[in-house]
Amino acid sequence: MTVSLVYVLNGPNLNRLGSREPEIYGSQTLQDVADLVSREGDSLGMTVDFRQTNDEAVLVGWIHEAVDRRADVVLNPAAFTHYSYSLRDACALVTTSGAKLIEIHLSNPATREQFRHTSVIAGVATGTIAGFGSVSYLLALHALAC
Ligand code: DQA
Repeated sequence: MTVSLVYVLNGPNLNRLGSREPEIYGSQTLQDVADLVSREGDSLGMTVDFRQTNDEAVLVGWIHEAVDRRADVVLNPAAFTHYSYSLRDACALVTTSGAKLIEIHLSNPATREQFRHTSVIAGVATGTIAGFGSVSYLLALHALAC
């Protein structure tokens, strides 16, 4: 079996999962999510590189790295979703190179405040999965495995 490389990247404030608005984001920590994702990746024959940053430039750099390594990307852009054109342009590099990029969210932004209804990433993503808590990450891995 060929083992594929998947970058699972997380944007700002997701390092606070577990204590951050648990009624919206649940009680799992980011480490809990990383463990789940790593186990699911193993079962699907994927090598998962799971990372989080609060820094837009770092996130853009990681996406460039994924492009250079021809990896697929699962991205929770967090608040960058709603306004970061530099992140959007980096994501476009993934999908125009022929790799896949899945935008994911724990919550369903469409049911929340108006500013969350806009995603500047969605237009360059392969697809979007939102509203399933940590299962959004697992669904994204399964979509990549298909
Ligand atoms: C989020 C939704 C975003 O609107 C928010 O800024 C986040 C998390 C989610 O996973 O539900 O930080 O991406």
